[in-house]
Amino acid sequence: MEGLIILARRKRIEILTVVGARPQFIKAAMVSAAIDRHGREQEPEIAEKIVHTGQHYDHEMSRIFFDEMGIPKPAVNLGVGSGSHAETTGSMMVGVEAEIISQKPDLVLVYGDTNSTLAGAMAAAKLDVPDAHVEAGLRSFNRRMPEEINRILTDRVSTLLLCPTLRAVENLAAEGITDGVHHTGDVMYDAALAFGEIAMRESRILSREKLTPKRYYLVTVHRAENTDDPARLRGILDGLRELARELPVVLPLHPRTRKAIAAHGFEKLCEGIRILQPVSYLDMVRLEKDATVILTDSGGIQKEAYFHGVPCVTLRDETEWVETVEQGWNLTVGADPKRIADAARQAGTGKQIEEYGNGSAAAVVLSCIQASLLTDH
Ligand code: UD1
Ligand code: UDP
Repeated sequence: MEGLIILARRKRIEILTVVGARPQFIKAAMVSAAIDRHGREQEPEIAEKIVHTGQHYDHEMSRIFFDEMGIPKPAVNLGVGSGSHAETTGSMMVGVEAEIISQKPDLVLVYGDTNSTLAGAMAAAKLDVPDAHVEAGLRSFNRRMPEEINRILTDRVSTLLLCPTLRAVENLAAEGITDGVHHTGDVMYDAALAFGEIAMRESRILSREKLTPKRYYLVTVHRAENTDDPARLRGILDGLRELARELPVVLPLHPRTRKAIAAHGFEKLCEGIRILQPVSYLDMVRLEKDATVILTDSGGIQKEAYFHGVPCVTLRDETEWVETVEQGWNLTVGADPKRIADAARQAGTGKQIEEYGNGSAAAVVLSCIQASLLTDH
């Protein structure tokens, strides 16, 4: 009853969204669009301000997504940039804390598992402002990944835990976290549906790169465990060169990996691999849809392979997206060249995965936020 009384009184909900890295722009695009639709149509009005931490700053790692996906311009960019984990996470916390104090939002919204996620969630929790975590509950059970630490800590302090999969809900329950947990579906599936046809119509990447549909491998590599370990990076590049003898291997290269290749002196190991600058979301979706197989260590791209019906080979020893493996879409092969090449030749499609939802996860996220703010006061 109390909640219903507040519902009648509250006219406006203010959300402070904290983003900073490429995959967060893509996830936030869908929720921002849902907020925009809601804000115009219904009461209470929902208003959003975006804080960009500046974790990613190159045009093709940041601005391009805001322009192409119509994400509202950030109210502020903290300009934190690159550095050690403690330096960047600490600076982001300081910046987000100041924004929370000045903006006085009703809720802080964070996405995924990057340092920007953790900084946003921690700053909110310390100021006793509710925090919603989109993509809560994912676990690789590998604590050497900085992302796993970010996931565990963010989930520990978040008020609302918005899970893309049922396994994520179970992971939280196993850690004793059940309050505020909701299965929403995956906002990245919303994005894949919303932009899939547009990408087919508007992207010119295939003709620009002279690629034939279903006659190339698409690859991305950027995980610290692969770029910072020369043996693993060498193994991956060896596997890709082997595949490049059969079909073009297209690699839009993350700046971290470009720098690692130079630092390890691995330029020669890239011969025969078609290295591109990071591409826009529409170009990426187009490349994904027409790839014969996708090889990646990205979290988001493993699922996008499934969304677009393309087999995936994961260049890691484990994955948080276990359902893609269980339903036959994804093979985790690590960094061994023979396993990589063999898996790419064998990879196939699998069964339908229901738990990512039906393309309306962003709307579910928004309803959960509303319901929680209306009942928690
Ligand atoms: C970060 C996330 C990772 C996510 C990835 C998405 C953390 C700990 N890691 O990894 O979970 O999968 O983003 O892409 O938060 N750099 C540039 N230009 C940029 C951005 C980065 O040159 O615009 C280079 C810098 O040399 C930087 C390095 O990339 O030191 C790594 O960037 P960082 O943001 O620390 O981590 P990512 O590897 O991007
Ligand atoms: N992506 C993109 N251009 C690229 C590489 C990736 O638009 O050159 C998109 C990709 O389609 C997915 C997201 O970025 O939506 C994944 O981000 P990334 O792999 O950097 O991070 P992760 O998902 O591993 O955290």
